[in-house]
Amino acid sequence: MPALLDVIGLTKHFPSPSGAVRAVDGVDLQIHRAHTYGLVGESGCGKSTLIRTIQRLLEPTSGQIIYKGQDIAAYKRAQLRTLRKEMAMVFQDPHMSLNPRMTVFDILARPLQIHGIARGKDALTLRIVHLLQKLGMQSEHLVRFPHELSGGQKQRIGVARALAVEPDIIFLDEPTSALDVSVQTKILKLLENIRKEWELTYFYISHDINLVRVVAEHMGVMYLGKIVEVGRTEDILRDPHHPYTVGLLQAVPEPDPDKPLGELQLGGEVPSPVNPPPGCNFHPRCPHAWDVCSQMEPELRMLSAEWSVACHRYGDDARAAPSR
Ligand SMILES: Nc1ncnc2c1ncn2[C@@H]1O[C@H](COP(=O)(O)OP(=O)(O)OP(=O)(O)O)[C@@H](O)[C@H]1O
Ligand SMILES: [Mg+2]
Repeated sequence: MPALLDVIGLTKHFPSPSGAVRAVDGVDLQIHRAHTYGLVGESGCGKSTLIRTIQRLLEPTSGQIIYKGQDIAAYKRAQLRTLRKEMAMVFQDPHMSLNPRMTVFDILARPLQIHGIARGKDALTLRIVHLLQKLGMQSEHLVRFPHELSGGQKQRIGVARALAVEPDIIFLDEPTSALDVSVQTKILKLLENIRKEWELTYFYISHDINLVRVVAEHMGVMYLGKIVEVGRTEDILRDPHHPYTVGLLQAVPEPDPDKPLGELQLGGEVPSPVNPPPGCNFHPRCPHAWDVCSQMEPELRMLSAEWSVACHRYGDDARAAPSR
């Protein structure tokens, strides 16, 4: 079955006085319907820019975004309207993303009215109460303002607002990182139940690999505007191949304290996306780098049907790699 979303060579560069900021720099990824994809990577690697560009909230610099068989990268303004209904977003900070002057009712009524899903007070109320119940809240919350809700309740409203338009795919940008762990767990469970019931597709962004482990069947690892490893979450976490993925995993608190940490730790800073290093972006921080790594950019190569890595250690030049 073709992927719901097939992103090909997507780039998003921002102009800046010191040169183009290569925030997203040639990303390929596929997301299948009714699946969850998790994207991890350090701060500033381009995760938010990537999902904003996929949703056409930002104009792509180049590349294709094939959604349901159509290249939406080429969509004009009028065609983007339908996209706003099919792709929804849950933001990191519910406090910032909810208008403080609107009641819960108004916040949820707005997308329903804009997209003509419900009209008139009665129809709107019926739908909104149903949505609130789905999110474990009651009709008494309808008249509340965001400041009268807890952090967890605010994010439930953020999720309800995304669900209101009956989207196919929901992008979740660190949806629970501003919440306490116990609240986080409840919201993640709720999201998963809703995804199954409504056969939704989720695209999660997170710094937290332990969260991706729980929610996503497939994951991608992003470094300085590029995907460096992609595959089944279970496979990658059991046996990471890209040296950056290995480093990221070793920086994560190990759920099993008896399991020893490996020798590699991620050192150094992420280079600037204005002047990325030549060859492989990761080579200045990589403990395995050799000549070719500073000369040639590694392509994303398939290790198996569902697993790809962009690293010369797994390419044609691998024989020249120094042995360790
Ligand atoms: N509008 C913009 N103009 C110029 N540069 C930008 C703009 N938006 C983002 N950037 C730059 O693009 C790069 C990627 O930013 P982005 O916000 O996508 O990273 P991120 O992975 O989401 O980070 P975080 O985990 O901190 O949210 C950064 O270097 C950032 O400074
Ligand atoms: Mg971000």
